[in-house]
Amino acid sequence: MESLMPAWLMPIAASTQAAKVDRIFLGLTLISAFIVLLVVGLLVTFAIRFRRGSKADRGPLPEVVSREFEIGWTAATLFIFVFIFWWAASAEIGAFSPPKDALEVHVVGKQWMWKTQSSNGAREINELHVPVGVPVRLVLTSQDVIHSFYIPAFRLKRDAVPDQTTEAWFQATKTGTFQLMCTEYCGTDHARMLGRVIVMEPQDYAAWLSAQPEGDDLAHQGARLFSERGCSGCHAPGSAVHAPSLAGIWGQAVQLDGGKLATVDAAYVRDSILQPKRDIVAGYAPVMPSYQGLLSDGEIQALTAYIRSLGAGPREIRTPGLP
Ligand code: CUA
Repeated sequence: MESLMPAWLMPIAASTQAAKVDRIFLGLTLISAFIVLLVVGLLVTFAIRFRRGSKADRGPLPEVVSREFEIGWTAATLFIFVFIFWWAASAEIGAFSPPKDALEVHVVGKQWMWKTQSSNGAREINELHVPVGVPVRLVLTSQDVIHSFYIPAFRLKRDAVPDQTTEAWFQATKTGTFQLMCTEYCGTDHARMLGRVIVMEPQDYAAWLSAQPEGDDLAHQGARLFSERGCSGCHAPGSAVHAPSLAGIWGQAVQLDGGKLATVDAAYVRDSILQPKRDIVAGYAPVMPSYQGLLSDGEIQALTAYIRSLGAGPREIRTPGLP
């Protein structure tokens, strides 16, 4: 969908979300402008009509006019607010719900650069190549301080926070090169923490991807770490230690001690690695040590990609006590 914004008013709109955001912005501006003009217009009219010395009638308003007007403008205001809330909330919910088939890109912010790695193996610094018309899911984190990943043309902005993962997604609607910047003050070179997003036709993207050096993809790195760092000692199928099996766990709901349910996603895996004793899966002993400080963000992302690659089971509650 095309943006309704004139080009001189807003940056170029190059994603599905950008068109939505611009429509809301334009809508809010028009509604506000209408109300401002109405109020100012009435103010001026009455100031002139009831100026000192004028002969205008200063008696009370007729009863019926004052009552019905009051009900009318209260209802109209309520309706406008509910409408604006619904409009903005539905766009916001869409902005947080990436399509299932999205291409996944891990983004790590550090002073002062952006490192990106696609689930298909492409690794870049301060650049991100993506195909046009394909949803892209971003999983963000930071290696040091809080940064914020901002692509004005996509109307997309999400903080990258140390020791946490945040997510965002976009679907580019135009090919071209778009500016990426950090928009959270993060130190000396914050202003130079810039990058580019290059949106390509799918066949150009495929050609670009195949020209990339043979990187071993994230899930394979994760599989290697899984055995090198000892995860497999307990979590591999057939291990003598009673630890939850990770195969087919991605996307499922697991029951935690205390009856809470958690969905296995990037944030859950990260928490489980860094703070394994905080939320124990029901039926298991709290024996796993924390890997805080022992694994880098990149390694945690690789392990996450590996667990994800083990597949997702049907969305169901796993029976407590059974691996
Ligand atoms: Cu990173 Cu500002």
